[in-house]
Amino acid sequence: MFNNQLVSFSGIQPSGNLTIGNYLGALKNFASYSEKYKCFYCVVDEHAITVRQNPADLRRRTYETLALYLAAGLDPEKNTLYVQSHVHEHAELAWILNCFTMFGELSRMTQFKDKSAKHADNINAGLFTYPVLMAADILLYQTDVVPVGIDQKQHVEICRDIAQRLNQIYPDLFTVPEPVIPVHGQKIMSLAEPTKKMSKSDENVNAVVYILDDRDTIVRKFRRAVTDSDTVVRYAEGKDGINNLINIYSSFTGKNTEEIEREFDGKGYGDFKVAVGEVCADALKPVQDKYYEILSDKPALEAQMKKGAEEASYVARRTLSKVQKKLGFVQVR
Ligand code: TYM
Repeated sequence: MFNNQLVSFSGIQPSGNLTIGNYLGALKNFASYSEKYKCFYCVVDEHAITVRQNPADLRRRTYETLALYLAAGLDPEKNTLYVQSHVHEHAELAWILNCFTMFGELSRMTQFKDKSAKHADNINAGLFTYPVLMAADILLYQTDVVPVGIDQKQHVEICRDIAQRLNQIYPDLFTVPEPVIPVHGQKIMSLAEPTKKMSKSDENVNAVVYILDDRDTIVRKFRRAVTDSDTVVRYAEGKDGINNLINIYSSFTGKNTEEIEREFDGKGYGDFKVAVGEVCADALKPVQDKYYEILSDKPALEAQMKKGAEEASYVARRTLSKVQKKLGFVQVR
């Protein structure tokens, strides 16, 4: 809660081309908070450098991610859209929170374990303390809700633990946030290995549908999606590929599982895969059209970055200053 208004906060890393997992798990849902909540949506470039980035790619993707926020329907008059590194309070609060976060609890984070296995040559301290920076992002804005996919639930939970720990020592310091996780879009799986999360860093481009893929590519990727030897479109344990396609179809159309099973009763997997590809392509087309228009005006994007950072800094500064005061830091302004 900030100034008597509920707050929504979320972020996406500019570490690769965004996928329909990012879209259905997070981005698509951000705009639904704009009316009732004060919303902050951030491009988290500081999180992205926990794995090695090519500087030119990181710079380009930061613009692209912000353009996608706007293209996905986030009105900059109703939402504060900005880049994490433009608001220095994120890194400053992260340092303070580091001093209230235990080594043991960070060691239990599954994403840290996964990423350290994947980047065994670069298990840096930032990768380890990544959830603390994420907690700082969230707590700086006195956030009530954090719309994310299920892979981020554990990180929001540790953020809650950190907030509660500090609130016990320094009462009323932080709002304790809740994760908000969509039912069908919470974990979109790889089309090639449907037991694995669809990820922007996957090297197999056929396993991943990108938000900016063209129609033919989208339909082709869905046509090739790995399923099983059954032929009936129904949601069931062990049918990971079909379950994933049902979730995707449901997220794009709003239909529930029973409606989808009825719709494809008597039809084979082939028809279903094409239908999923088509609803996906249809839904993404307006986002893509807007995206290319927005991206072509770099000065306008930079003006947006500046405006967003100013708005965010105003709130971030107030929280950081409150924290510093409570901790006993001397303030001489
Ligand atoms: P990131 O960049 O990996 O993903 C951005 C958002 O997309 C969701 N997501 C998915 N949802 C469903 N299915 C998938 N296959 C899928 N892949 C990704 C993620 O859950 C996320 O919501 N640590 C965060 C970024 C972050 C953040 C924050 C989020 C930094 N600070 C503060 C919320 C609040 C991350 O790496 O997301």
